[in-house]
Amino acid sequence: MSVYILSDRHRLIVHFSKENRVCRKNRELRETTRDCISLKVTFLAFSTELWLDSRSDGTLRGITLLPLTHIVINMPFEDLVHYDGCCFPPFPPLAKDAKKHLEALRNMETRDDDVIMITFPKCGTHWVWEIITMLLKGKAEYHPLTREHVFLDVIDDLSSLDTLPSPRVFNTHMPYRWLPREHFKAGRKVVNVIRNPKDVAVSWYCHWHSSNELGCGSICWSEFFEEVVMGQYKNAFGGYFNFQKELYHAIKSNEGYSLCTLYYENLKKDPCSEILKLADYLGVPCTTSLATAIAEKCSFQNLKQASDDMKDHGEVMKVMKEMGRDPPKFYRKGEVGDWKNWYTVSQNERHDAKIQEEMKDVNFDLKLIYEI
Ligand code: A3P
Repeated sequence: MSVYILSDRHRLIVHFSKENRVCRKNRELRETTRDCISLKVTFLAFSTELWLDSRSDGTLRGITLLPLTHIVINMPFEDLVHYDGCCFPPFPPLAKDAKKHLEALRNMETRDDDVIMITFPKCGTHWVWEIITMLLKGKAEYHPLTREHVFLDVIDDLSSLDTLPSPRVFNTHMPYRWLPREHFKAGRKVVNVIRNPKDVAVSWYCHWHSSNELGCGSICWSEFFEEVVMGQYKNAFGGYFNFQKELYHAIKSNEGYSLCTLYYENLKKDPCSEILKLADYLGVPCTTSLATAIAEKCSFQNLKQASDDMKDHGEVMKVMKEMGRDPPKFYRKGEVGDWKNWYTVSQNERHDAKIQEEMKDVNFDLKLIYEI
């Protein structure tokens, strides 16, 4: 377990020993990154002061006395929901009863014209959701609500969605095994968006850092990389590769299942062509001029602006408030290849090795595009 200490110059991470006992001398400088220092320090749990030696360049200097009132007890990952070999943020219905919610999701009834977007987090859900709603409407007009009002993972009572008019564009980050079975069996529309795992990792870190969604608001990138990309929480939402493998295995082994795959990077490179391809899959008419207008309205800057200016964020605010978290920033940079600004050479090599290992048993066409 860790607690985060906010000092005026930087953040320090302090690890309690299991017995919550002190050993002030037992101090180990773990790592220095550009925005924080992690110091491993064990200390007396009930002391009123904590002595730390630190300096932002990583060398030790003098002694800083921090009253314990400055300590923000913020245990990362502590309230994650663990279920069925996966871990999830504490979305209210999952925190309440994950089994019940996921079973309700699997048994959820859908309509013939419903579309379900199935995306691993940070692959461009908001972007593609908006594009789909425009295509189904046949107009390049923003939806007044955000995709969270039909985000199946956070809606406590899924039957409340029955009152929504068709066509509904649901979205979820849940692994295939928990998704509405009937929807797949009936061959209804499913859209998956894939984005390279390195940009996903960075985007995810920034999201969780801004919202503290995993209770890891104070951790630095390298810790996120160790814990979530490589380490004990790599099963978040099933894990990047397992998430895709499970979905594609189901599609391949069940005749009549339907799926359209889009790549974030292709959408970035040539939005019009991808929008036309999506329209074709959805079976809606779309001229090149409509595709161009939708691409323009859904460009990163325009969509971000629209989100700030005219979208009703009530659903996100409600859920985040219930979770005791801050609203995340969904529109950050919207680029391909930002990972290069974050990964160290060694992190990149280690992630590459992991990706290579994971790709060995990928038996579907998975193209990972790291730059355009
Ligand atoms: P970054 O954090 O890399 O900027 P999701 O919607 O699944 O949560 O994904 C969020 C990611 O998609 C964020 O990535 C966000 O900026 C990016 N994004 C949102 N709208 C976009 C758009 N119109 N064009 C490109 N990227 C977009």
